[in-house]
This record gives sequence, C-alpha cells and structure tokens, in this order.
Amino acid sequence: MASRIIAVCNQKGGVGKTTLVTGLAEVLSRDLKLKVLVIDADPQRNTTSTLGITEPEFTLNDVLYGDETQNHKIIAGVAGDAILRAGEAWQGDHPQLDLIASERNLASRERDSMMARERRLRTALRGVSENYDIVLIDCPPSLGLLTVNALTAATHALLVSEPRVASVEGLTEIVTTIAEVQENLNEDLDVVGIVINKKKKNRLDQDRWIMQMRNDYQDFVLEPALSDREIFAKSQAASKPLKSFGPTSKLELDGLARLASKILERTAP
Ligand SMILES: Nc1ncnc2c1ncn2[C@@H]1O[C@H](COP(=O)(O)OP(=O)(O)OP(=O)(O)O)[C@@H](O)[C@H]1O
Ligand SMILES: [Mg+2]
Repeated sequence: MASRIIAVCNQKGGVGKTTLVTGLAEVLSRDLKLKVLVIDADPQRNTTSTLGITEPEFTLNDVLYGDETQNHKIIAGVAGDAILRAGEAWQGDHPQLDLIASERNLASRERDSMMARERRLRTALRGVSENYDIVLIDCPPSLGLLTVNALTAATHALLVSEPRVASVEGLTEIVTTIAEVQENLNEDLDVVGIVINKKKKNRLDQDRWIMQMRNDYQDFVLEPALSDREIFAKSQAASKPLKSFGPTSKLELDGLARLASKILERTAP
C-alpha cells in the first residue's frame, strides 16, 4: 500500500474539498517532489477539469463498474488502467502528478448494489497506490457510496470546513460516518485533521466559529487556515496551477505548503 491515501471529505457542498485537493497536489508534487495520484470521486468532475482533463477515455466510473462480462466483478489493481497524466498546464513543473478522472455517469455508482460495493475502490487500487508517495481522493458533497468507497480505500480522512455555523455543525455528521467506516469497513482509517477554508479578515463571527472548532476538535484543527482569495477560484476556472498566477499566489502557496508538511508529518507511516 502507498504510505498515504487521503480522502478529502465533507458532505457539505462548496466548502473547498476540490480546492484543497488540487492545491495540495500542486505543492506536494512540484515543491516537495513527491509522486502524487489524485482520484476524482465526484461526478461534478471539478478536479478533473481543474487538472486540465476534458474527455477522459476511461474514468473512475469504468473502474467501479467492474467487468460486465464477469457479473461486474472488480479486479484488483484495475484502477491502474484509468491513470492519466494531469493536463499540460500542470506538467513540466509537475512531473509526478497523475489523475484518475471522473465523469457525470459516476453518479450512477452511488446506487450500486453489487457485491462488496463499499470496498470496490479499495480493491481496484491494490498494487496501484504503492506506486505513489501520496494518493489524494476528492470526495463528492454527500455521505453516499462514493464517499464511503473513498473512506474505505483510505488510510486517512482530511476534513475541510468553512468557519460558519452550518459548516461547523456539518462536521458532526462526517465524523459519525468516519466512525461507522472505522467500525465496519476500515479499522485502519485515521483522521488527519480539519482544514479551515475561506477565512476572511476581521470577521468576528468567523473568529467565533474557529474558536468553537478548536474547542470541539482541539489540535485536529490544522494551521494555517486558507484565506478567502479570488485566486483559488481563478485557478479552478482556468484549469491552471496557483503558481501560474505569479507572485499573487505566494501567500496561498505558502499556506498550502505549511498544511502539506503538517499532513505529511501526521500521516507518516
Ligand atoms: N479559499 C477560497 N477563496 C476563494 N474562493 C474559494 C476558496 N476555496 C474555494 N473557493 C471557491 O469556492 C467554490 C467551491 O470550492 P470547491 O469547489 O473547492 O468546493 P468543494 O467542497 O469541492 O465543492 P463541492 O462540494 O461542490 O465539490 C469554487 O468556486 C472555488 O473556486
Ligand atoms: Mg468539489
């Protein structure tokens, strides 16, 4: 197994899962020179398009669907067949950034009823994740079968939250799901921590929610929080890494690098 397979999750939409996955993939591969595999487990396919892939031939949907001629049997290691290089804008600087893409039809995998349906990604990655230093899985905004597959395949869960009441309350639900996965499907799953995203300056309401999170989750709340900065949205819209925006991205890249080091430290085998 790869030393680290990290599922980035929160059932709440728009909190920054994809932003964190692509940002971490950028600094881990380019600056820390690690071999990184990103898996887009969200039918919205935002990670796939941010990493510059438009029409993948073989996606996570095909992987999880299994072999139709063999009653949808899932073959160990089949995920290897779906690995792509990240798009051109991410190459050069990112010689070791690979992707398993998503497609809209991945949504139908949420309703699968095949044998071992929660463990299909885990089986598919066997012998594949070992080729990478780190695997990052971008989960969809739900606690359905795709997120459960990601958590069952993962060594670690990394949560993302905005500093607002609804987001903070939503953490309880994902923490419960993680506990259920630990109990029934993956006893080795650990929580790395919670990244706070979209922090605005001088907002007392946000400071209060961050204090509440620290109180509830203590040192699981990771430093630094990522600021609310347009550059994150620009990077996603342009399908380009943060670095390509020049010096304006320095603060964000420094923050991501600090988070990446903390995550590596906490997930060290
Ligand atoms: N720190 C930030 N500052 C400004 N905009 C941000 C930040 N983080 C994310 N965004 C923007 O907010 C939107 C939602 O972010 P993102 O797609 O990362 O969230 P998500 O949790 O993956 O959403 P979903 O649940 O729909 O997959 C995107 O347009 C993204 O560019
Ligand atoms: Mg997303």
